[in-house]
Amino acid sequence: MHDAHQNDSKKAIGIFDSGLGGLTVLKEIAKLLPGEDLVYFGDSGRTPYGTKSKDTVIRYTQQDINFLLSQNVKMIVIACNTASACSLDIVSEKYHVPVVEVVGPGSRAASRVTKNNSIAVIGTSATISSHVYEKALKKINPAITYVGKACPLFVPLVEEGWWDKKITEDVIAEYLGNLKCSNPDTLILGCTHYPLLQSAIAKVLGPDINLVNSAGAVAAEVKEVLIKENLLRISDGDNIHHGRVSYFTSDSVEKFASLGSMFLGKELDNVTKIDIDAY
Ligand code: DGL
Repeated sequence: MHDAHQNDSKKAIGIFDSGLGGLTVLKEIAKLLPGEDLVYFGDSGRTPYGTKSKDTVIRYTQQDINFLLSQNVKMIVIACNTASACSLDIVSEKYHVPVVEVVGPGSRAASRVTKNNSIAVIGTSATISSHVYEKALKKINPAITYVGKACPLFVPLVEEGWWDKKITEDVIAEYLGNLKCSNPDTLILGCTHYPLLQSAIAKVLGPDINLVNSAGAVAAEVKEVLIKENLLRISDGDNIHHGRVSYFTSDSVEKFASLGSMFLGKELDNVTKIDIDAY
């Protein structure tokens, strides 16, 4: 291994989302790669992204990546389906560090699970209207039939911490009541906020539909890319490094820390507010 790579491997992995949803991806990465330092940016001051235009989401995405690069990260993880859907073609070519997104890993995971090749995807309005999942699934297997449904109220419910309230189940039933007509056996949670609603969604839809949370598949892809690029952090002998996580937000530190700790099931003590417009 070259020295440059050895040094680069000690750098952190940068992860971002429009808010707290990407913490579902961070959690899986931290579980799979406990020796890696992580830098997380949640753009809570400008959330949601899913109701904004493609141009706006691309601009936000570029600023989020610029911020993470200013933290000297070795890799970027776009832990946001909306940002992935709107800007994938642009970002994959543009940066000197590897970029991992969420649509590819989620689609591959769902295609392995389905038995009847009928897959439904739920996401923000921007993600669903981009048709990225439809394209990704058909590329994997042209026989897959796809149905997409935008659920714009889910993100505010999650950001509010209303994961298992009666009103949340009613909203889920309203959006997904007709889904069964298309007979999908697999549903991709195509927004990194939605795993927080997974139990409520499962309760409304019943046991016949597999719910695919792509966070685990994204973490596996992160590890694969780090290995391929010689960027995986390896311990020096007995000197085991325990990964540190730094959190940044564009909104209230207190709100991020209190809701974030509910997401992760542990206290978040090192949250810093930044001015994302400066990047
Ligand atoms: N968590 C994000 C996603 O995966 C964005 C939600 C939003 O900001 O609208 O789509």
